[in-house]
Amino acid sequence: MLQVVFRSQLTTLLSYLDIQRICLAAARNNRKAAVSGFMVECGGVFLQSLEGPVHVVNETLDRMYRDNRHDHIEIVCSEQDIPQRRFEVWAMNVMFLDDDAFWTRVFGSEYSCDEMLTQRMDPAFAMGILAMAYRHACSETGLSAAAAGNRLGRIPQIRHMIRR
Ligand SMILES: Cc1cc2nc3c(=O)[nH]c(=O)nc-3n(C[C@H](O)[C@H](O)[C@H](O)COP(=O)(O)O)c2cc1C
Repeated sequence: MLQVVFRSQLTTLLSYLDIQRICLAAARNNRKAAVSGFMVECGGVFLQSLEGPVHVVNETLDRMYRDNRHDHIEIVCSEQDIPQRRFEVWAMNVMFLDDDAFWTRVFGSEYSCDEMLTQRMDPAFAMGILAMAYRHACSETGLSAAAAGNRLGRIPQIRHMIRR
């Protein structure tokens, strides 16, 4: 099982609804391929984790590299042979982080949206933000962060895509 965490930037301004639609389509593709994942968005920057069998994660990445709605796709970190999935509840879900007050309230940290805009992202920061956002999304939606077991990741409902 491979985990890849990467960062990308929107090439044009998209609405929440556009991004939610991308997430839904992504979740449907991922579920078919037994890929699970999670992403956060802030100021047009995405940070995303994909987990699954090596070849399907790589196929998903290949498709994403060809998608001109985003560019500057940079792998922040990747790990082969992870013993278990770290973001297993959804096949893909998104949480919107584009409000500094939200960062303080949810993460209780001094981090802000600006950190997401830094092109060379620190892997520990990236994993920390994804893990905190994922836990927050699970608790807001009443789902256990480790509930899926061997089940395929869920397709998120719009209300699962957390906004401030
Ligand atoms: C920020 C972002 C994240 C995406 N995440 C995924 C993903 O996790 N899985 C996926 O299949 N497609 C994802 N996509 C869409 C792909 O880039 C591509 O458009 C899609 O896989 C093509 O699928 P289709 O051939 O079924 O239309 C994402 C796109 C963007 C902009």
